[in-house]
Formats: sequence, structure tokens, C-alpha cells
Amino acid sequence: MLLLHLTDVDEAGWAEALRATLDGYPVVRRGDDYDPAAIRYIFVWKPEANAFVGLTGLKAILSLGAGVDALLQHPALPDAPIVRFVDDELSQQMSDYVVAHVTMHHRLYTRFHADQKARRWRQLYPPAASETTVGIMGMGVLGQDAVRRLKSLGFDLRSWSRTPKNMDGVAGFAGAEQFDAFLAGTDILVNLLPLTPETTGILNSDTFAKLRRDRLAGGPVIVNAARGGHQREADIVKALGDGTLGAVSLDVFETEPLPATSPLWDIENCYITPHIAAISNKKSGVRYFSGIIARHEAGDPLINVVDRERGY
Ligand code: NDP
Ligand code: OXD
Repeated sequence: MLLLHLTDVDEAGWAEALRATLDGYPVVRRGDDYDPAAIRYIFVWKPEANAFVGLTGLKAILSLGAGVDALLQHPALPDAPIVRFVDDELSQQMSDYVVAHVTMHHRLYTRFHADQKARRWRQLYPPAASETTVGIMGMGVLGQDAVRRLKSLGFDLRSWSRTPKNMDGVAGFAGAEQFDAFLAGTDILVNLLPLTPETTGILNSDTFAKLRRDRLAGGPVIVNAARGGHQREADIVKALGDGTLGAVSLDVFETEPLPATSPLWDIENCYITPHIAAISNKKSGVRYFSGIIARHEAGDPLINVVDRERGY
């Protein structure tokens, strides 16, 4: 039996679509009459404190989110494997966001938009894409897709991950010892890391000061589409104010929704979107999770299982 526990999303719609696809496999929701001990799978998004009570027969926890940092903090998380969402459409959406913001900053949008508002005609040529280095932090499912798409646009690319990566045409850096060297040649820093104790607060004043300064007019740029816990917003405000950073694009925030009192709203070179870079799509999610359940019930191993030790 599959139990849905989806907060802030259309749980009824997901239940209907999963029932239709799972072809007779029982699917229940929180308010339904069922025996908790009969639940083999729970499909979660923002689970409440009592989400796992009585689920003694649980075989797997299915996470609607690709990122599982919040789920791993659940105070009563059972010791069952966690399967996270991995999906081509999700990757495509994230890469669309990354490409949109990287190309906007490469073409010095902040500068030309300010000139337009001031009715000022000032020619300035952006560097060639091949002379503009995009550094991607996180070379997992999303980072690798973003790199593939940015490569076709001609950017110079480098990556930073926990373990070394060898991707054609991408300078690979790994581990804390190579972080500074990675930053020193980066003009546009894109964050696609998972949020773990090691990566919390990684977008801070120290990091910003180590980026390359002589390539993009206005200064280096940060694009964060991973988690708000990666960034120190007070440091971002300061860096945008004193010119350490030329601009930032933020899809995620320390507190979401971003409070109306946040100074970030009023900063012209701070580009805000409300955590919409990549949204889990119902059609492909139903296909993915019903495939996981059907194959696991047939005896196949689970895929895309979170490593709890690593935290992602
Ligand atoms: P993956 O788990 O596939 O990839 C994670 C990458 O980060 C890996 O390359 C890993 O290194 C690297 N990494 C982890 N810890 C460290 C560290 N301490 N130092 C250096 N590198 C590290 O994740 P995804 O690509 O699927 O997703 C990334 C994140 O994107 C998610 O965790 C989620 O928070 C966020 N996200 C945001 C969305 C949005 O709408 N804004 C939507 C979907 C996801 P290695 O390869 O060596 O293991
Ligand atoms: C996710 C997200 O992790 O939407 O999937 O942020």
C-alpha cells in the first residue's frame, strides 16, 4: 500500500494519477481509513511531525523533492531507504533557469538596463563567451545537465564537486583543497549543491572575495538555484553594495517566502525568483514513482537512493 503525505501541493490530483497508473495497487491519503502497518511506501513533501507514526512495514520513503535536506531533518524519520526525484524534465527546467541567468549576466544586463533607465548611450562590449568562465558548484544530475547546455553556448566551464569529475571540456576541481583555485578563475558562480553541513553558508563574503574580478564589467556574479541555506544574505547585501559582486540571481532564500522586510527586494542588481527554478512535474513524477514501486514490488533494487551519511 502507498500512502501520500504531500503538503502544499495537489495531493488529491497526485493520488488520482498514481491510482490510475499503479493499476490496482492500493493508494491512500492521510484522511482515509487504512492500517498504518500495511503501508509499504510513503510519498512525501514537507511531512508533518506525525507523518511516520505506526508505519512499521515501511519499505521506502519516496521524496517529491530532488533535494532531501529538510526531510533528513525530520525528527522521527524512519530508517527506510529514501528515494529522491530524478527526472529529465526537472533537469531541463533547472538548466533553462541557469542558461537564462548566466547569459543575462554575461551580456551585462544590469549595466545596460541601468543605462536605459538613465537614457544613457554607452557602448561596452561583453567578453566573448569563450573568455567568460562559468563555475558550477555541484556536478550531480543538475550540474551535469547545466554544463552540457552551457557548453553548446561556447562558455568556458569549470566544475567543483566533492569527488573528482572528468567531463570533456570542463576543468574539474574537487574538495575543500581545490575550492580557492576553482573560485579564482570563475566569473559567474552557479550553485547546484545539495544542502549539507559542509555546504551550509558556502556563499559568503570569503567566497565572493575569491572570485575573478577583471573579466565581467561590474564584477563577478552569483547564481543560486539550490537552497537558501547555502547563502548568507547579509553578506550578499554587503557585496552588492560595495561592488564585490556585480549582480546575483537568487531562486532560494534563507527564509521562504522571502519576507517583505528583506533588503534584497530593493537591490537593483539582485534578481529574485520565488523558488521556481525547477518544479516537480506531476506527469513525469507519477511515471517515475509508479515505476519505482512496480519494479521494487517485482524484486528489483531501488534507484536514486539517498546516502544518509553524505547527506544527499
Ligand atoms: P546530486 O546529488 O545529483 O548532486 C550533488 C552534487 O554536489 C554532486 O556532484 C556532489 O559531489 C556535490 N557535492 C555534495 N557535497 C559537496 C561538497 N561538500 N563539496 C563539493 N561538492 C559537493 O544533486 P542534484 O544535482 O540532483 O540537485 C542539487 C540540488 O539542487 C538539490 O539538492 C536541491 O537542493 C536543489 N534543487 C533546487 C530546485 C529549485 O527549484 N530551486 C529544484 C531541484 C533541486 P560528488 O559528485 O562528488 O558526489
Ligand atoms: C526540489 C525543489 O528539491 O523543488 O525538488 O527544491
